[in-house]
Amino acid sequence: MFEKIMELALKRGFLIQSAEVYNAPAGFYDFGPVGTALKRKIQEAWRNQFIRREGNLEIETCAILPEIVLKASGHVGCFADPLVECIKCAKKHRADELIRNYLGKNKEELKKKNPKALELKTEGMNAEQLTKTITELGITCECGGKLNEAKPFNLMFKTNIGAAEGNTAYTRPETAQGIFLDFQRVFKAHGAKLPMGIAQIGRSFRNEISPRQGLLRLREFTQMELEYFFDPQNQKHLKFKEVENEEIKLYTREEQMKNSEKETRITARELVEKKIVPNEIMAYFLVREKQFYDAMGVKKHRIRHMLAEETPHYSGGNFDVEVETSYGWIETVGTAYRTDYDLKSHAQASKKELSVFIEERKEKIIPHVVEPSFGVDRLFWCVLEAAYRQANKEQGKEWDWFDFPTSISPIDVAVFPLMKKDGMPEKAREIEKTLREEGLDVLYDESGSVGKRYARMDEVGTPYCITVDYETKETGEVTIRFRNDGKQIKVKISEIARTIKKCIKEGKVSV
Ligand code: ATP
Ligand code: GLY
Repeated sequence: MFEKIMELALKRGFLIQSAEVYNAPAGFYDFGPVGTALKRKIQEAWRNQFIRREGNLEIETCAILPEIVLKASGHVGCFADPLVECIKCAKKHRADELIRNYLGKNKEELKKKNPKALELKTEGMNAEQLTKTITELGITCECGGKLNEAKPFNLMFKTNIGAAEGNTAYTRPETAQGIFLDFQRVFKAHGAKLPMGIAQIGRSFRNEISPRQGLLRLREFTQMELEYFFDPQNQKHLKFKEVENEEIKLYTREEQMKNSEKETRITARELVEKKIVPNEIMAYFLVREKQFYDAMGVKKHRIRHMLAEETPHYSGGNFDVEVETSYGWIETVGTAYRTDYDLKSHAQASKKELSVFIEERKEKIIPHVVEPSFGVDRLFWCVLEAAYRQANKEQGKEWDWFDFPTSISPIDVAVFPLMKKDGMPEKAREIEKTLREEGLDVLYDESGSVGKRYARMDEVGTPYCITVDYETKETGEVTIRFRNDGKQIKVKISEIARTIKKCIKEGKVSV
C-alpha cells in the first residue's frame, strides 16, 4: 500500500523528492502545491486546537543554535542513535532498527529455532548489548558482510557560525529549545502568570542514520510543539472538566512487556486517579491529541505508555501517540513531562535567572513543563494513508482517490465550464473569482473531458466540483458534484459560496 500511495502522492504533486534530478540523499522531501495546502491546513487545524482555543501563545525561534545551548539541553551528550557499519561495503545501519527488522522478517523461522529471540526488546539496550545481540543472531549487512561494533552517532547537523573557526553550532533537533530560551521574555511580556503555554511550528533537523521510510523518517521535518509551563505545586488543568470523561485507547507497559497488542479504554479521570499519568495536565493533552487525530480522519491510533528505558534524557514520563500504518505502528506525537529539566539546565549553564515569582506564596520557582510534540510530516503521511481509497468501478470510481476530511482538503472546490464555448468559461471564471474572494481554496479547470477533471479532483481529494453548463445561462444554476458518491445537486449561483461553506463545516461529502 505504501508504494501505491506514494505513487499517487508523487503523480499529483503532493510530494516531490528533494533535489530529485541529482538523486539527492534520502530523508528530504519537498511539498508540491496540493501537499503544501494539505500541510498548511493540518498546521492551521493544530493552531486552532492547541493555540487559539487554549489561549496559548505562539512564537517563532531560530533553527541554528550555538553549541552551548545544546550542550546545556543534553543534546550534544545524549542525542544519539546506535550506528553499525558493514566491514565489507561500508553501509551504515541503525543497530536497534536492524535487529527489529531482522526479528520481524524472520519471525516464522525464529519461532521454531530460537523463540526466545522473539522476546528481545532493543529499547534501552546500550551499544555493547546491541553488538552482542547482532553477533548472537548472526545478523549481517544485505551484502552479506559482517558488521562492526555499535557506537553512538549524534544526530545533530553541525555547522560553524561566521568565518572564524571554533564557533560550533547545530541546526535544532527540536523546536522546543527556542521556547525554553525565550521563556523569560515571553512570560514577562504576557502577564507573568502561570500556567502559560508557548507553542511553535517550525523545522527541525536530525541526521538520521538510515531514513528509508518516506515521510516517516526525515532529516529535515516540521514539528508543532507546545511547552505548557506550570507551577509544580498546582498540577491541575483549568479545563480538565471538559475532558475528564473522554476515553483514550492506552497501550500499557504491561501489555507491551507481554508482546500483546491489547489496548485498554480508559478515561482521563482514571488516568489521573490510577496515577498512570504524572498529572491532570498530561491527561488533558492526551485527550486533546486523540481528538485531534480523530478530526484529521486518522482513526487507527492508540496512546503508548513508554517503557522507562525509552524515555528521553529530559523526561519524567512519556506517552506517545502511535498510528497503525502500512509500516506498522509508528510514533507520531511524543508527550513528555519535561519537569524543570530544560529551564534549570539553561539557568545553570547561562548563569541567568530563569525562575518566576509566585505572588501568592512569595516564592521563586522554576516552572515545570508538559510538552505535546507533534511531527507534521508523520501526521501528513498518516492522513494520506487514512484517506486513501482504491479504485472501485461499482462505486463509479475508476481511479484511486483521497477521502480527506473537508476541513483539510487541499482544494475546497473546483470550478469547470462544461464546454470551452458559449460563455461557459467566462461564467465559470466569475464563479471562481467570487469563491476565492470568499476565502475558499479554488481550482479552475477546463482541460479534457469533465470525467477526467472529476478524476483529477478525486485524486487530490477535492470534495466539491461545480460545473457551469448550457442551462446555467437560463436558470442561473450550476451543479455541485460531491466527491464520495459522485451525486449532484443544482444550486443557484448566488447560493454557491454559502452552500459550499456549510458543507465544509458539516463535513458533507455525499448527497
Ligand atoms: P523515533 O523514535 O521514531 O525516531 P523520536 O522518539 O525520536 O521518534 P521525538 O524525539 O519524540 O521522536 O520527536 C517528536 C516528534 O517529532 C515525533 O513524534 C515525530 O512525529 C517527529 N519526528 C521525530 N523524528 C522525526 C523524523 N526523523 N522524521 C519525521 N518526523 C520526526
Ligand atoms: N521536543 C521533543 C522532541 O523533539 O524530542
